[in-house]
Amino acid sequence: MALFCLKKWTFVQINPMAIIAPSLLAANFLELGNACTMLNESEAEWFHLDVMDGSFVPNISYGLPIIEQIKKTTTKVLDVHLMIVAPEKYIVDFKKAGADILTVHYEACPHLHSTLQLIKAQGMKAGVALNPHTPVSFLKDIIKDIDVVCIMSVNPGFGGQKFIEHTYEKVIELKQMITDANANTLIEIDGGVTADNASKLVKAGADVLVAGTTVFKAADPKAMIVTLKNC
Ligand code: DX5
Ligand code: ZN
Repeated sequence: MALFCLKKWTFVQINPMAIIAPSLLAANFLELGNACTMLNESEAEWFHLDVMDGSFVPNISYGLPIIEQIKKTTTKVLDVHLMIVAPEKYIVDFKKAGADILTVHYEACPHLHSTLQLIKAQGMKAGVALNPHTPVSFLKDIIKDIDVVCIMSVNPGFGGQKFIEHTYEKVIELKQMITDANANTLIEIDGGVTADNASKLVKAGADVLVAGTTVFKAADPKAMIVTLKNC
């Protein structure tokens, strides 16, 4: 699989197109196996898995047992987005469940640098998600320690929300920060991604597009993934 060997993590620009990370939050949970099969047959490189605790965000989604089962269905990258308080308590558990990338929220981590090191010590890539109100400049001192910055383009907690337009400015600023630092960090966009805004996001500097509703509510989800990828 063309997984971590995509783009900057091998320092080779193998594939200039965006990585597509469909969010299973928008799938029919009674048909989760079919959703995984569909994604395995698609051009999506990552599975985006949203874990919510009802405390950091006002919603509860799914957790470790579901991720363990999903891991058995795929060899694609499991991109786990933790929307939970004290995520450092569960790093080993998510590694065991099969996470390849573990993303924590800036707003949930008073000792973010330490948390990133703990994630990497488990052999996972380390991601940091930023809520819409959190400036990208807050990551300047640790940008080289971050494998993926997930810019939230909606307020976290729910799928199907409207894209926040200010996101483009954040992507441009973050891209400059990454370039200036000579870092290998990927920029991921999460929330309200559609076939209409995908191209502008990639032009601004996005490497990874998360898409829940746009993929799973499409008449042909696999074709939609191709559309997003070729934007
Ligand atoms: C929101 C989640 C997103 C969500 C995206 O809190 O982090 O990953 O599933 O859903 P859409 O693409 O429908 O906005
Ligand atoms: Zn997410």
